[in-house]
Amino acid sequence: MRTEGGVGAETRPSERSAGGWALEVELAGLRLANPTVLASGVLGTSASLLARAASSGAGAVTTKTLTLHPRRGNPNPVVVELDTGLLNSMGLPNPGLEPFLPEIRAYRSSGLRSPLIGSIWALNSEEASTMASMIQEAGANAVELNVSCPNASKDELDTIGSEQLVRELVEAVRRSVSVPVFVKLPPLHWGLTKLAGAAVDAGADVLVATNALRGMAIDVRARRPILSGITGGLSGRALKPVALRAVYELYGEFGDEIQVVGVGGVQDWRDAVEYLLAGASAVEIGTALIYRGLSVFRRVASGIEGYLREEGFHSVEEIVGAARRG
Ligand code: SIN
Repeated sequence: MRTEGGVGAETRPSERSAGGWALEVELAGLRLANPTVLASGVLGTSASLLARAASSGAGAVTTKTLTLHPRRGNPNPVVVELDTGLLNSMGLPNPGLEPFLPEIRAYRSSGLRSPLIGSIWALNSEEASTMASMIQEAGANAVELNVSCPNASKDELDTIGSEQLVRELVEAVRRSVSVPVFVKLPPLHWGLTKLAGAAVDAGADVLVATNALRGMAIDVRARRPILSGITGGLSGRALKPVALRAVYELYGEFGDEIQVVGVGGVQDWRDAVEYLLAGASAVEIGTALIYRGLSVFRRVASGIEGYLREEGFHSVEEIVGAARRG
């Protein structure tokens, strides 16, 4: 098992340390004190949890994905811990957008500097437009449009392989807000760049790669699937090589036009640096919070700073996409 030691002593990340190694990054015009972002899902369910992530060093924070109307989500069991990661079949449980807006306002009035990204999942353009306007009005600094929930049924929203639908949803959000629009993509192999291209054409500012990978687990004694939803989204370590490849491809295809954020299995500074080298401008962290706690943000940021120092770089931007430049 890799440790967090070595590169990057446990120093507190600073925007520019005495040695001149800057962790601050710019993401679609937003300033992040460091390139770590709380991923949608794990702690983004209230203002106080978002604030805890920000106070613990997250450069930006993302809400749990919200829908226009309340959703109960799937019945238990909805989570299975595997040796390679976590499978969840949550099913987008949330109180609906309107009741959540006070949480966004409370976070924004807390004075914390880490930008808040509001994650939304919409069934059609009209919903996407309404939700995006409401979330911006409440104070979100950016909107993340989730077009890749692994637990949504095809009957609800069939975005995978449907560039036209993705284009319509992104256009609707783009028209409705002035804040940056992030689009969270699925871990496709064929078709990823087509789907991303539709989002870019429709005016997305940032591509987020990737959401969890649909998988399943079976109870051999009961002889049936463990999750009530039968399948679930696989996150954590197993997802990292897949999402890293997606970031590398997206940066290669769209890196001149748009920024990419990496998400999937970031546990330590090496994971984060791999994503930066592949072309990510920042990394989202989710599942690792369950195993490593909130200190993961500072530990990853400190490690990135140590890497920059040891390798002779002075900013995060300098290494973004470096693996493509050779
Ligand atoms: C869920 O609530 O089912 C997970 C959301 C997502 O991964 O998009």
